[in-house]
Amino acid sequence: MPDVDRVAHGLVPVALREWLGYVWVCLADAPPSFEADVVGAVTERLGDPAAVEHYGMAGLALGRRVTYDVAANWKLIVENFMECYHCATIHPELVEVLPEFARGFAAQYYVGHGAEFAPEVAGFTVDGTAGADRLPGVTDEQDRRYYAITVKPQVFLNLVPDHAIVHRMTPLAADRTVVECDWLFAPEVVASGRDIDRSVELFHRVNQQDFAACERTQPGMSSRAYRDGGVLVPSEHHITAFHEWLQPHSRG
Ligand SMILES: [Fe+2]
Repeated sequence: MPDVDRVAHGLVPVALREWLGYVWVCLADAPPSFEADVVGAVTERLGDPAAVEHYGMAGLALGRRVTYDVAANWKLIVENFMECYHCATIHPELVEVLPEFARGFAAQYYVGHGAEFAPEVAGFTVDGTAGADRLPGVTDEQDRRYYAITVKPQVFLNLVPDHAIVHRMTPLAADRTVVECDWLFAPEVVASGRDIDRSVELFHRVNQQDFAACERTQPGMSSRAYRDGGVLVPSEHHITAFHEWLQPHSRG
């Protein structure tokens, strides 16, 4: 039909970048700066723009992917990920590996700080046994440490010496979010068929524990008493910053 304007009715363009082995898409007509918002979030958390590159994420292979259908708002999942008051009581396996989490302060509170493994722990695994070999670029300072990073709005990065864990959230309703979680290992680890179950199981349990807590919290957050976002103590300044970032964007 020659009278149809193909340009006016063509595909809708989106902003797209490749980074850390993933395709990052922004649907906004005027997307914000990828360097400031995405790369900047990682740099701000780790304190060094080169730090994330040491894990060579773009060259890692997918060892396991688990999809969680969570009956909670995506912002609740973000807040849960950013705080650690709940760690001592609902994450028994995680605090065995990262004892400082039992004290309630999330490592994301401190720029550049990674939570240190317990002295008797050999690897980031559900029973503290050794995982895979340390990734070749990981430095001595990064070894035996766990770094959690929130990349607003919907990605979490988790870095440990021998693998990376990536969460991606897709909100489907005000009270429902699908979370895809990837466990990434060195290609030779995946190709060898080596048992990665104990590595995967640790954060799989953390995910189940966190999402169950979010689902239990969702009904209370749906109350009009919660309409201003609840009460945050000073040590949760990073969650306050998330609220402030969110306000101009949406209340959905
Ligand atoms: Fe948690």
